[in-house]
Amino acid sequence: MKALALSLVGIAAASPFLRVRQNNDLESFIERQRNLSLPAVLRNIGGLNDSDVDGANPGIVVASPSTVNPNYFYTWTRDSALTYLMITDELLFGTERVGNNSLQVVIEDYTTAQAILQTVTNPSGSLWPAGAGLGEPKFYTNKTRFNGAWGRPQNDGPALRASAFIEATDAIFVRAPNASEIVANVYWPIILNDLNYVGQYWNTSSYDLWEEVNGNSFFTTTAQHRALVQGSILAEKLNQTCEPCQQAPEILCFLQNNFWNETGNYLLANINTNQVTRSEVNIDPILAAMHAFDINATCDAAALQPCNSRTLATHKVVIDSFRNLYPINENATAPTAVAVGRYPEDTYYTGNPWYITTLAAAEVLYDAIAQFRKNETLTVDETSLDFFTDLYPNATVGSYDGDDLENILDAVMEYADGFVEVVQKYTPENGTLNEQINKTTGEPTSAIALTWSFAAFITMAERRDGQFPPSWGASSELANNSTETCAASSYNATYSYQVAAAAGAPQVGTPRCMKEVLFVANYSSAFGNNLYIVGNNTLFGGDLMPELPIQVMRTGNKTETEPLSIVPAWVISPQTIEYRYVLQNETAGTYTFENKTMIVEVGPCDGEIQRVDDSPAFPGQ
Ligand code: NOJ
Ligand code: NOJ
Repeated sequence: MKALALSLVGIAAASPFLRVRQNNDLESFIERQRNLSLPAVLRNIGGLNDSDVDGANPGIVVASPSTVNPNYFYTWTRDSALTYLMITDELLFGTERVGNNSLQVVIEDYTTAQAILQTVTNPSGSLWPAGAGLGEPKFYTNKTRFNGAWGRPQNDGPALRASAFIEATDAIFVRAPNASEIVANVYWPIILNDLNYVGQYWNTSSYDLWEEVNGNSFFTTTAQHRALVQGSILAEKLNQTCEPCQQAPEILCFLQNNFWNETGNYLLANINTNQVTRSEVNIDPILAAMHAFDINATCDAAALQPCNSRTLATHKVVIDSFRNLYPINENATAPTAVAVGRYPEDTYYTGNPWYITTLAAAEVLYDAIAQFRKNETLTVDETSLDFFTDLYPNATVGSYDGDDLENILDAVMEYADGFVEVVQKYTPENGTLNEQINKTTGEPTSAIALTWSFAAFITMAERRDGQFPPSWGASSELANNSTETCAASSYNATYSYQVAAAAGAPQVGTPRCMKEVLFVANYSSAFGNNLYIVGNNTLFGGDLMPELPIQVMRTGNKTETEPLSIVPAWVISPQTIEYRYVLQNETAGTYTFENKTMIVEVGPCDGEIQRVDDSPAFPGQ
């Protein structure tokens, strides 16, 4: 039922690109929920007035106040960066204060906290000398390392954080156009650490944003490409150079040539993985397109845009995969919107729809509509035809403008709104957004008051209202420049402690002499088994028989002929390291330790890599 009262609010806020659809019921829900969501985000950040997260340091984003089932009382680099992109945009769009909190101060807290977090040595490694510690996905909320077993590293983190910092500098320049010196001296070295990591490691495997699959993810790679393009534009503005940014054309080549599944007509979420049983139909590329969204880019921009045919084709395949999967969707066919999950094979909490993914299904379409309207034309091609005929049965391959364009866009808008209506249906009266929606009962489930859910609601509402983030350079030359043939290149970076030390980072001092040791295990683990290394060095948990092993071996270079797993470790030289291999059986949740301890004498730090070859064997295997 649509309310009859005329809402002028939506009309006043309308952008030139989005024609507001009259849907008062939905609009008043969005307005109310958006107003609730920003304070809810800030309650999950440490150090602020009205914070719900006691013990979290200033500027630390807690994923959720939930401490059991699941325990999300940690800070993830990804969740934090995505949240801060939203907060910075809110500031740019004109929100100065929320309650007693000034958003400017909230952002400064974040940048100080991250400058220090970059330097915290953790199970992924350390900042100095090779940056490996930057790939660590999560920390305790007092900025200390988390030693438990985890899918690490996760390489989207540094890229997203670089973009969040660069957006924060946009906000600085709006207020203080002469701030170049501060930005160059304070922000740039922190940004450059993350860009260096991206330039150095983009071509190695890491865990995806769902923390499950070790390989190369479309979302991660897209975030890496965006970060380097943005970094190069900022560098120019600051009269600095960004050497790692020169990797951008290689990353683009990799993105464009490996992820498109021609037969299935969708973008693969992950490649170079050992997850042979999965379709790789996943919301990951949709989140990627949202992150790459730039209102100034055309639909054929190299950085995949929301209005690109491949995005829309993927949207259809992904949404269709959930229609008959979740009972609450009641097998609804297009153009009815449904509740959306991460990917159809998901089993986490039995595999449910999530708020962030259902909101993403809407947001990416609002982005696409804005782009089509700005371009004043829409081309339906073979790739996007099925997406469009679902919503507008008369669509055929060809170009549309004028009234035809508007009619198609109205249908897309109605479809997009449908996903927000699904969220509305499953949002409790008090507006709390958990992580998930139970697929059978529709009850909110998993982590309560998930920061990312609220942030996702706000970005959806911004886009629907025609509020777009500043252009990040998707139409720049660098963003569209791809190498002709793809190469596994890498930038050999040096990392800086400079700003962190000024911000009060502990353990900075004079870096000691470090040596790179490559632990190489020749072991063919069965599917569902993971190989870990533990040892008396803090990098390996500091314990030969810990409750949970901490350094998972990277299997990125694994081939059928060479089943090698490696852990590259930068350690202080000289020293003696005692270590063991551990095998995790994922399904049974058990760990089998080798029954012998190995010893390695770390050689002099002469710049040479020390390789240690092992053939682990496990009792009972
Ligand atoms: C598995 C989930 O699928 C993943 O997303 C989550 O982060 C980890 N478990 C830890 O809770
Ligand atoms: C699980 C999600 O899969 C991951 O993306 C997120 O970072 C954590 N939960 C924390 O919210």
